[in-house]
Amino acid sequence: MKLHRFNPQECRFPKPRISPLPNSPAFPSMLGHQPSGLSGRHSRHFRHFSRGRYALGEACRLAGLTRQTIFLAPAYHCVTMIDPALALSATVCFYRLQADLSPDIEHLTELVANANQPVKALLVTHYFGLIKDFGPLAEFCREKRIVLIEDCSHVLFTEEFQAPGSGMHGDLVIASPYKFFCCADGGLLYSRNENRLDPVITHPASLLDELVGIKFTYEKSRWGMSAGSFPEIDSLLDSLGSTPLALGTDLLEERNTPSELYSSSIQNRSSLRYSRLMARQTSPIENSRKRRENFNRWASAIAQTPNCRAIFSKLPQDCIPYMFPVYIERPNPDFYWLKHLGVPIWRWDEMGVSTCAAAEDYRLHLIHLPCHQALTSEQLDWMVTAFNKTMHRMLKGDQ
Ligand SMILES: Cc1ncc(COP(=O)(O)O)c(C=O)c1O
Repeated sequence: MKLHRFNPQECRFPKPRISPLPNSPAFPSMLGHQPSGLSGRHSRHFRHFSRGRYALGEACRLAGLTRQTIFLAPAYHCVTMIDPALALSATVCFYRLQADLSPDIEHLTELVANANQPVKALLVTHYFGLIKDFGPLAEFCREKRIVLIEDCSHVLFTEEFQAPGSGMHGDLVIASPYKFFCCADGGLLYSRNENRLDPVITHPASLLDELVGIKFTYEKSRWGMSAGSFPEIDSLLDSLGSTPLALGTDLLEERNTPSELYSSSIQNRSSLRYSRLMARQTSPIENSRKRRENFNRWASAIAQTPNCRAIFSKLPQDCIPYMFPVYIERPNPDFYWLKHLGVPIWRWDEMGVSTCAAAEDYRLHLIHLPCHQALTSEQLDWMVTAFNKTMHRMLKGDQ
């Protein structure tokens, strides 16, 4: 398989000043919280893993993926979404997405019709927490005898609480609770069918793993206590603008094995008990309220900012966002400047090559900004200001 791979090593980016994921145990709710529709059906319907990728690995195995079978994955993806299929030596085929990241059904139908190996699984993703209706695709999969894996990695989805509209259509559902809570790990596999997960055996984390997790969580909670000074942003941008940038290398690579982010030695290890406790102790209502507030803050700031645009400007009712995705017109230099300022941004620049125009475009242009519940208003102000000032900078040759 051909992959794009951006190597930033020579750029020497500093550590972000603020944690991209929640790093303080905000909003404890010792009294528990409002259960959603799935709650009460614990244990037999769920298996815990250290990350969503290992839950996806089990989902792929249950779907019957092996060598010479096909895994259909969305063209816009991070490598951990395809690592599990590569670990099983399956063939990964990418289906196209529309600009709003919904699946191109025509292309999917075409891929299935022309497949020269059995298609065993289709992965569909609720990107950034925006819930899509995968009902019609579930119907399509039933007809074609394909296992539908619903990717809720960007969705607030735990044993106790599932964001409205999520987990409804997948034969198997995977999630990454560690992205929504202040904890060291957490991946989840869910099935509505009581017996479906019976063959999935996991083993508990050791006491040492638990202690390392607690230490990690404590250290993370001290990250970004004070974001940085506002006048410093201008002076840093002045100096970045006057020196040549190291751009890193952007290569095409042939690879059919999982990335170094996939470790088979921990694939069957359960998440830490400590991580699950942290998730249970956090109120999803407050978590959601704060995330929505922070998302909307980014949306109104970006509506007034040049050289960028939101790909989802309006937050649907009930949606619990994971991050704020923003399209930047000038990845060179803006991506580099934001990284050098220490703004916590993510970008999926390592990605399988596809014929999807949106994925090929978004790979270097779409950046993910944090909107999690643990951000302080000072941190958010600093990030919005740093982002804004970067986007406003005139480049050489601009009028
Ligand atoms: C959409 C999506 N699905 C699946 C995964 C894998 O999740 P995890 O990091 O929990 O292994 C990721 C990773 O970030 C992701 O962004």
